[in-house]
Amino acid sequence: MNYRHAFHAGNFADVVKHIVLARVLVYLARKDAAFRVLDTHAGAGLYDLGGEEASRTGEWEAGVAAALATPLPAPVEALIAPWRAAINAANPQGFDTGLAHYPGSPFIARHLSRPQDRMLFCESEPGVRAALAEVMRADGRVKVLPTDGWQALSAYLPPKERRGLVLIDPPFEEGGEFHRLAEGLVGAHRRWEGGVLMAWYPIKDVRAVDAFRREVTRAGIPKTLRIEFDLAEVRQADRLSGAGLVVVNPPFTLAEEMRTVMTALAPRLAHDGRGRVRIGWLMPER
Ligand SMILES: C[S@@+](CC[C@H](N)C(=O)[O-])C[C@H]1O[C@@H](n2cnc3c(N)ncnc32)[C@H](O)[C@@H]1O
Repeated sequence: MNYRHAFHAGNFADVVKHIVLARVLVYLARKDAAFRVLDTHAGAGLYDLGGEEASRTGEWEAGVAAALATPLPAPVEALIAPWRAAINAANPQGFDTGLAHYPGSPFIARHLSRPQDRMLFCESEPGVRAALAEVMRADGRVKVLPTDGWQALSAYLPPKERRGLVLIDPPFEEGGEFHRLAEGLVGAHRRWEGGVLMAWYPIKDVRAVDAFRREVTRAGIPKTLRIEFDLAEVRQADRLSGAGLVVVNPPFTLAEEMRTVMTALAPRLAHDGRGRVRIGWLMPER
């Protein structure tokens, strides 16, 4: 295992995933009742964009920096405001001279949670886990766990709050990861029918993505939304050309919100100045 998210932090895929995550959290926070977040593959929580790894790829410049280069139309700014707020919190000295840090999913989850909410973050790499624990320190709402993310789906679901979200965001560096993701998602839904379940996947090998979508669709889970973004039309099988999310039980406004956001962001993130956005139901409400 040598995947290091620090190389990719803040890239186009993080931008899309984290805006969706922030929208789901805002929706969950509309009710006073506590919610729980389970992030099965949590990463380090905070990334130094001037550090060796992020600088080596510069992916964040074509991602978060391009997305936020100039103000977006007001309705889009309103929708991305919670994500932007987490970025601001990760850069307390401001970013007049550019972004210094990018927040990972646990940071965003914590930023948008309330005193009554609880978070479980699983991370298998000891060094990355130590960094995450440092970012999260002294927050009694959070547990940083060494638990295998796939096992966490059975060990910690359903949560006692009976409200909340699961983010499954594996590194996709082993064979069979698409099948595992589909199985993990379906198993999580079996244990917790009412949870908002988000599963992230890379678009590189289009056939593998098609097979994954078919497997998820066959499971027949009602209210399964897919959100995909391609950087350009031409795909090279060995390069990440897009990314997707399957969201089970999304907030009822999410599809429309992400259409608004992605229409504005696609030209900024895409290689060809346009990009391709696909948002639609794999399985609608019963
Ligand atoms: C794609 S990154 C996570 C990014 C993070 N979710 C975010 O959005 O900021 C995947 C992380 O999962 C960790 N990981 C890999 N296999 C794991 C497993 N079986 N259980 C838990 N964590 C794992 C990797 O070390 C890596 O930090």
